[in-house]
Amino acid sequence: MCGIVGYIGNRDACPILMEGLDRLSYRGYDSAGVAILGGEGKINICKAKGRLENLTALLGEQPIVGKAGIGHTRWATHGEPSDLNAHPHTDFSGGIAVVHNGIIENHEALRKYLKQRGCVFVSQTDTEVVAHLLRTLYEGDMKTAIIKAMGMLEGSYALGILCDAEPNRLFCVRHESPLVVGAKDGEAFIASDIPAMLSHTRDVVFLRDKELAVLSAQGMEVYDQLGEAQTPDYYHVSWDLSSAEKGGYAHYMLKEIHEQPTALQNTFKPRNTGDPQGYGWLPVTAQEARALRQISIVACGTAYHAGVFGKYVIEKLARIPVMADVASEYRYRDPVIGTDELFIAVSQSGETADTLAALREAKQRGAKVIAICNVVGSTIAREVGEQNTLFTYAGPEIAVASTKAYMTQVEMMLLIAIALGDMRGTLSTQEAQRLRREIAALPAKAEKALLTEEKLQWYASTVSQKKHVFFVGRGLDYALSMEAALKLKEVSYVFSEAYAAGELKHGPIALLQEGRLVVATLTQPQLLEKSLSNLREIKARGATILALCREDMKDRVVGEADEIIVIPSADDLLAPLLAVIPLQLFAYCMAVARGCDVDKPRNLAKSVTVE
Ligand code: G6P
Repeated sequence: MCGIVGYIGNRDACPILMEGLDRLSYRGYDSAGVAILGGEGKINICKAKGRLENLTALLGEQPIVGKAGIGHTRWATHGEPSDLNAHPHTDFSGGIAVVHNGIIENHEALRKYLKQRGCVFVSQTDTEVVAHLLRTLYEGDMKTAIIKAMGMLEGSYALGILCDAEPNRLFCVRHESPLVVGAKDGEAFIASDIPAMLSHTRDVVFLRDKELAVLSAQGMEVYDQLGEAQTPDYYHVSWDLSSAEKGGYAHYMLKEIHEQPTALQNTFKPRNTGDPQGYGWLPVTAQEARALRQISIVACGTAYHAGVFGKYVIEKLARIPVMADVASEYRYRDPVIGTDELFIAVSQSGETADTLAALREAKQRGAKVIAICNVVGSTIAREVGEQNTLFTYAGPEIAVASTKAYMTQVEMMLLIAIALGDMRGTLSTQEAQRLRREIAALPAKAEKALLTEEKLQWYASTVSQKKHVFFVGRGLDYALSMEAALKLKEVSYVFSEAYAAGELKHGPIALLQEGRLVVATLTQPQLLEKSLSNLREIKARGATILALCREDMKDRVVGEADEIIVIPSADDLLAPLLAVIPLQLFAYCMAVARGCDVDKPRNLAKSVTVE
């Protein structure tokens, strides 16, 4: 989704802005632009449709210099991707430039109002209204104009603002869209995400909702919507920029798949207290756990699939009914939820608009709300409260398709299931301890599962031209298949669909014929016989089968599939975490074999901060 950068200081702004935009490019975008306030006090703008290289080429032809500027990567919501619709946008005088993430919901009404006052619009974007609005409200002090505009703007926004009448200042403001600011040694920065400013400063401030910041070479001032000065909370970023770089891998996605053993370990460590019943890390008391009537897990995309996994394991170990739902549906269906119920929001970024809205619905109805989130300081973590957030320690995830974040979300689900089961007495403390020992052994097994890459590379090259792929499984393997199908379609654009294996004969089997590929996951011994019958049904229709199974189940599967990928033996509840690795690698290898832009698939955004 859109990215914002801003700089003010003593250096040339353009290279700093471009470096920042490059670091944000993983979020997905379709055009980019910069606005720079030159020494002569004029704002110069350069923008281009397409990749950042296009903008770089333009800037090469017509360089723009100056020591303050804003930049943007746009992911179109209002108006097609084009040079004209790319940000920054200016008011009619060209003296106020704006970059924006989010959606101005009342942009039509504002556009009408501004047109009546003589404003002429040149783009189709909702953002342009902000530039004109600020101009009409401006009476010599941009901070005051922004505060007035906040009272008129509806929707979500993170805005970076440049004003030629106040050349020594850079402004930004946020409402429901993230914004980070930092200041160091006579320079100040704004960004929609930390990597964009990490090479300049590690001490950052996450603006709170409806806060605005005024940045200058002297530092930063933060104000609330009434204009009252606020004391900013600094957050020290401990991770390195190298964790947001490719580190020798061909793609971020591959690097992040390979980081999963470490991510598993880092996420488990703070929850492995040594005390058999030490569940202090879980923001649910034993009393609350025993009183729970239902759990709702709500999320989007990959995080939703982690929720489906959570439904299976929590119901199994803690014997509580669990509902997993996608946030965009949940938020609008007047959900039935109340006290003695637990709502778990799952989000890698902590910024997904639908997940945020869904958790507000649950909160309003009296449920206890907690979150599983990968980003400290994100909106969801703050909204729920950091004490109610279970952080996954996957590290920064750059590839649009989520891999290591999913892995840690699924691990977190397992840890919650064990904790709740133990606290409710539905799982013995010994069994809980045994499962924790198994989790401690996972990283080493995950390393082994990564060794399937070579075979999958070869296999993908033989099936890369398939047009349809089905993923089937039962129980936890079905939850996994949903994620595997999403991964494949996201990165390789192959039409893929997941089905509960037992459901095949209720429709999808009509599509099975020679040439179709079915990827079957078999990690659950108690369901193996049933699954093998399904494989025979598939084979009888002439489709090709790639089966994924545990080492200790291999002998039963040989002869039932055209090709087999073997993962290390593991406990039934944990084996799916290993099986997901070859499934991710399969999607990755297919995308590479098909020549796709693996890390930035078309039309997709890493963080969907609008509805
Ligand atoms: C986007 C991303 C997905 C992600 C989903 C939810 O669609 O492309 O990879 O799973 O958003 O994001 P979240 O940050 O809430 O986990």
